[in-house]
Amino acid sequence: MTDLLNGTISSTLAPEVRQQLEQAPTDYRELVEWVTEIAELTEPAAIYWADGSQEEYDRLAGELVEAGTFIKLSDHEFPNSYAAFSDPDDVARVEERTFICSETEAGAGPTNNWRDPVEMKQTMTDLYRGCMRGRTLFVIPFVMGSLDATEPKYGVEITDSAYVVCSMRIMATIGSDVLKKMSETEAFFVKALHSVGAPLEEGQQDVAWPCNPEKYIVHFPETREIWSFGSGYGGNALLGKKCYALRIASALGHDNGWMAEHMLILKVTNPEGKSKFFSAAFPSACGKTNFAMMEPTIDGWKAEMVGDDIAWISFDAEGKPRVVNPEAGMFGVAPGTGWSTNPNAMRAISGGNTIFTNVALTDDGSVWWEGKTDEVPEHLIDWQGNDWTPDSVRPAAHPNSRFCTPIEQVEMLAPEFSEPDGVPLSAMIFGGRRKTTIPLVSEAQSWEQGVFRGVTLSSETTAAAKGAVGVVRRDPMAMLPFIGYNASDYFRHWLDLGEKHGEENMPGIYYVNWFRRTEDGGFAWPGFGENSRVVKWIFNRLEGKADGQETLFGVVPTAEDLDLTGLEISDEEIEAALAVKVDEFETELAGIDEWLAKFGDDLPARIREQRDDMAARIEAA
Ligand code: PEP
Ligand code: NA
Ligand code: MN
Repeated sequence: MTDLLNGTISSTLAPEVRQQLEQAPTDYRELVEWVTEIAELTEPAAIYWADGSQEEYDRLAGELVEAGTFIKLSDHEFPNSYAAFSDPDDVARVEERTFICSETEAGAGPTNNWRDPVEMKQTMTDLYRGCMRGRTLFVIPFVMGSLDATEPKYGVEITDSAYVVCSMRIMATIGSDVLKKMSETEAFFVKALHSVGAPLEEGQQDVAWPCNPEKYIVHFPETREIWSFGSGYGGNALLGKKCYALRIASALGHDNGWMAEHMLILKVTNPEGKSKFFSAAFPSACGKTNFAMMEPTIDGWKAEMVGDDIAWISFDAEGKPRVVNPEAGMFGVAPGTGWSTNPNAMRAISGGNTIFTNVALTDDGSVWWEGKTDEVPEHLIDWQGNDWTPDSVRPAAHPNSRFCTPIEQVEMLAPEFSEPDGVPLSAMIFGGRRKTTIPLVSEAQSWEQGVFRGVTLSSETTAAAKGAVGVVRRDPMAMLPFIGYNASDYFRHWLDLGEKHGEENMPGIYYVNWFRRTEDGGFAWPGFGENSRVVKWIFNRLEGKADGQETLFGVVPTAEDLDLTGLEISDEEIEAALAVKVDEFETELAGIDEWLAKFGDDLPARIREQRDDMAARIEAA
């Protein structure tokens, strides 16, 4: 199609590859030049532009079956689905190998790993040199959010992994339509480079899951580039997700007046048919996916999902917030997702078209993971290929095993999911896992107080992550691993948006804790679908139709203010769930002070004032 590279393509490339570059399905010069530059560096055996079609997906999946990367599952439970098994050293996001390479160290501080961008590019260029030998370089044009958005958010991922191409087709809108519109408008796109870092020499036998022990997940926030090397797993490799839609997008949002947040999006409709949209941020292992797909237990209330992981929030001409889910799929943790805990997720996965990674195989050609069914199979092949029986000590599925499923298969998906410019946002909910201190629900009394709640958001560690269990960790806005620039600037951005658009336009901020314990150690609140009672209180507060009590921790409902109809809960339990105790908040304040010290003088004064306000409230209580 294009002759714009005539005479400029390096002669070191194989003639077929040169020809494939000359026949690129676009004449967007900046894109073709970038692909050429990467091809010259990485020396692939072939170049392939993904068109995003079903035929292409089926063909690549077939090739992955041939290569031993995919196992085609029997169609009886999960039609048109595959299981993949990763290298045992490539099973999760690698935060210690994740870098924000801003021009200055302060630009990434103090919560991110930083390296000088020039040095990092040198190091990684050496790693990328010849790294695609014997492999195909895939070009994936993609858009996060709708292609019909007022300003579509484009990216192009170059990868040498067909598993990544198939997964990206589920997680984003990819292919020819995207390439066409992006090229016609010569639109800005995020350059996202990925290699598993495992070149194949002449005659070398490939492995099922190629990767490299040396891993780098690198972001250049000023130039909006992503360079990933060595891992083929999840957020390390599907670069539209955490790397673009959170880290790079948070930097884009900072510079352009919007927000990229680690939040689910929920549509809630009351019995009168009135709807509101909420977003919610929870650190990992706090039931975010379950909340995104909840089934209300109270009569007449309806919940529908808009998103399960990421929310982009912008402001319309009147300064009113609107929210979109930039993703087209779910990349959910399998263990703990089951017919009894999250039937909506199970129904979505049962629609098929799913890629499972690191779950266990059943004897009838399907898959299983801990928590999928209450009944445990007699025999499985575990995620590492070993025989497994209920006596086995190790889990059958890796604790971070995943399902990757198209979001349209979620039956309770809100139709507004596909609104190109999103839906109005009424409230943001922060939540964490805390045995003590934090009440079931509280309402921030101002935007600034709400931002302070986010800055100091905390959760107790669970067995899901390595390290001690039950330790209180701060995770600001549940964004600790995803803030793509300086965290104090990120807090300031939140505060500034409130000043710019005015308190009356900003969403209400609520803080929930489903995990409070009673004196005897049991959960004070039943959680799951019963959380709809808390959602109802939030909804009605926004309507001016629910009461609460002013406490040192904002407005908290009394038992009478909550709809507890039909709920079996003792007075002691509900009291424990809603309690605001001065001594617990004295301890909390000490923990907050320790956390805020990390930001030094850089911490916005408005956050310091909120801290002092909290101290004064504790003093006065
Ligand atoms: C990921 O690793 O891509 C991912 C989705 O991570 P998390 O579940 O922690 O959000
Ligand atoms: Na898609
Ligand atoms: Mn997430």
